[in-house]
Amino acid sequence: MTSKANHHDAEWVSQFLASRRTTRDFLSIPVPDDILNQILTDALTAPSWSNTRPFKVAVASGQVRDRISAEFLSRWNAVSTHLRGGLWGKITLLIKRYGLPTSNRLISKPYPADLKPSAMQLGAGLYATFGVAREDRVQRDKWWAKNYEFYGAPTELFIYIHKSLHIYAASDAGLMMENLALSAHAYGLGTCMQGAVGIWDDVVRKEFDVPKNYRLLCGIAIGYPSESQVNTFKANRIDVSELVIKPR
Ligand SMILES: Cc1cc2nc3c(=O)[nH]c(=O)nc-3n(C[C@H](O)[C@H](O)[C@H](O)COP(=O)(O)O)c2cc1C
Repeated sequence: MTSKANHHDAEWVSQFLASRRTTRDFLSIPVPDDILNQILTDALTAPSWSNTRPFKVAVASGQVRDRISAEFLSRWNAVSTHLRGGLWGKITLLIKRYGLPTSNRLISKPYPADLKPSAMQLGAGLYATFGVAREDRVQRDKWWAKNYEFYGAPTELFIYIHKSLHIYAASDAGLMMENLALSAHAYGLGTCMQGAVGIWDDVVRKEFDVPKNYRLLCGIAIGYPSESQVNTFKANRIDVSELVIKPR
């Protein structure tokens, strides 16, 4: 073996990886620029398809973050109010169109049957931690709205991927995002990857000069985690036996 790693290091790495958990309540303390820069540098050590790095990141802090959040919240309020208003509410939403997704409509579609149980389990666990009854649509909508406040994080990163590489661009971005989340974790910061913020690309483009051939994948809220009970939630992690495909 030429590797310098020893068993002790490997155990530490396994524990470190297992200890990263999604943060859903942040302190408003800003992320220092030098730390954010180091985290982004670490993110770029991830492997990439032909080393193309087919992604870009829009860093929203301060007033830009606040403007984006305000518009997201306004759109979400419009959508949730109309959706709760029965058939007439839905018709009004379709007529007015304000709040309808302008990108990534896929995320508002139902999950396929084989993946639905995991998503349902996550939802039930999260709402139990938030203290929201499943049938309480109003409270559930209020909690979902926290996505659009970026759960209080001072900075939201918007991840864009190159249109031409399709799934490989998304896969490369995912590798980069995980490096980013782990580096943030090492610096005592929390992250929440957010598909929820991927549906109104036009709002982000109004603030950033995003190249035309890039499309929004998702966001990542980043900041210092609060002591909130919400941050104690531990999503289920499947066993290796569920991961590995059985031989014929
Ligand atoms: C691409 C992606 C999008 C996600 N979107 C959201 C989101 O919109 N809101 C949210 O609260 N969590 C979101 N999550 C976080 C997942 O729910 C979380 O990673 C999962 O439940 C596993 O929990 P863990 O990160 O604590 O291990 C997202 C995660 C990923 C990878």
